[in-house]
Amino acid sequence: MDIFRINGQKRLEGEIKIHGSKNSALPILAAAVLVQGQTTIHNCPRLSDVDAAIEILEALGCQVTRTGHSVLIDATALSSSEISDSMMLKMRSSVVFLGAILGRTGEAKLSTPGGCEIGLRPIDLHISAMKQMGAEMQSKDGKLFFSAANGLQGANITLAFPSVGATENVLLAAATAKGRTILSNAAREPEISDLADFLNAAGARIQGAGDSTVIIDGVSHLHAVTHTVIPDRIAASTYLLAGAMTKGSVKVDGIIPAHVGALLPILEEAGCHLTVGSKWVHLDAPPRLRPVKMTRTMPYPGFPTDVQAPLSAMLTVADGTSVIVENIFESRYKHAASLLRFGAKISVEGRMEVIEGVPFLTGARVEAPDLRGGMALVLAGLAAQGETTVSGLSHIDRGYEAPEKLLKSLGADIQRIKDYAGTKIENETNADPELTGEKCGETE
Ligand code: UD1
Repeated sequence: MDIFRINGQKRLEGEIKIHGSKNSALPILAAAVLVQGQTTIHNCPRLSDVDAAIEILEALGCQVTRTGHSVLIDATALSSSEISDSMMLKMRSSVVFLGAILGRTGEAKLSTPGGCEIGLRPIDLHISAMKQMGAEMQSKDGKLFFSAANGLQGANITLAFPSVGATENVLLAAATAKGRTILSNAAREPEISDLADFLNAAGARIQGAGDSTVIIDGVSHLHAVTHTVIPDRIAASTYLLAGAMTKGSVKVDGIIPAHVGALLPILEEAGCHLTVGSKWVHLDAPPRLRPVKMTRTMPYPGFPTDVQAPLSAMLTVADGTSVIVENIFESRYKHAASLLRFGAKISVEGRMEVIEGVPFLTGARVEAPDLRGGMALVLAGLAAQGETTVSGLSHIDRGYEAPEKLLKSLGADIQRIKDYAGTKIENETNADPELTGEKCGETE
């Protein structure tokens, strides 16, 4: 078990370059299944979720070579259309392979994805879209079997909610389906546009990605393609919040500032001074942050649910009371219980989190509850007086590439201790279900 050991209250100062987007890389890796020829993906982050997606590609019969941040995939000899239970459980977003496998082979076999949700509900939108495109589905013992004997057909599909994953699955399935698909109430996240750019570069005909209506004219096949993944807006946001929380002066470089657009007014409300360039944002934090009255998570271009936990961490040291409302996931406040161990004052009721800022946090021993919640605890440790240890780094490594290196380069005192053999951290505060929020699993 690896842990982070942090000696807090070091002011973060300097410049970092942000890695490629996890949430773009994953559907693009899945899209490689549709390509007859070589796919080259640059700026692909070194993350355990990317490792999991590559494992799936290899199990499907693709040849994969990885060098640094580039991945070469040859799906010519695809030999399977099944994703094993263990792979589905490892990563909830493996469901994004559904549209690609079904589009390429006319069938797909997978189990309901990992995570906490019960039954079929969390992928009901994906399933319904595939059915509208002519797929039949049978389920047995938690396994789902999809088949489209005559190939997928274009369809008019309206999503009940602009689900990111369901939108991606429709783009993937429709890219080589027969005829035109019109997708309404599509998700508008930048990762959707990145996927469409990748598919179009491989010969697909997709218009309107990034808007609520996307039109996809199916083509017979996709050809060899080279693509560079967009920068990770969630990582960029997290490091800006780390700078804000440590009274720092931090420049995040190599980003698309518009993609962090919903965070910038919040940082300003908290008293940070921002300068925005064409590919960077520079933040100067005040000696004491102000509270942020109300933040509501929303689909893009609203405030992202994935930045909610790091923002909660920042607000624990603001000079007053802040409120966050989580609108995307029923409840996503597992980090709150652990933040209490630092001396934070937080209460959670349903979708609402109320954070009364305290003058300072005190170092604590905590365990990452999930990916973004885990990073929120690292942020708390960076700002806290004294020593913090964070275990459960496997969650954090899913979505942040070597965060300790980036943070160290900014002046943080943080070390990754490999194979730490200390006693397991008891999350006794997690006993309160109001504070733990979700009852199990990752949301993303
Ligand atoms: C993606 C992101 C994740 C982010 C989320 C919301 C990836 C790999 N993950 O996840 O980081 O937090 O978008 O921005 O890109 N829902 C249903 N039925 C469905 C599908 C979704 O009820 O068939 C619900 C979900 O339970 C959730 C909401 O819709 O409450 C949003 O989910 P969705 O946009 O699909 O998120 P993901 O694509 O899983």
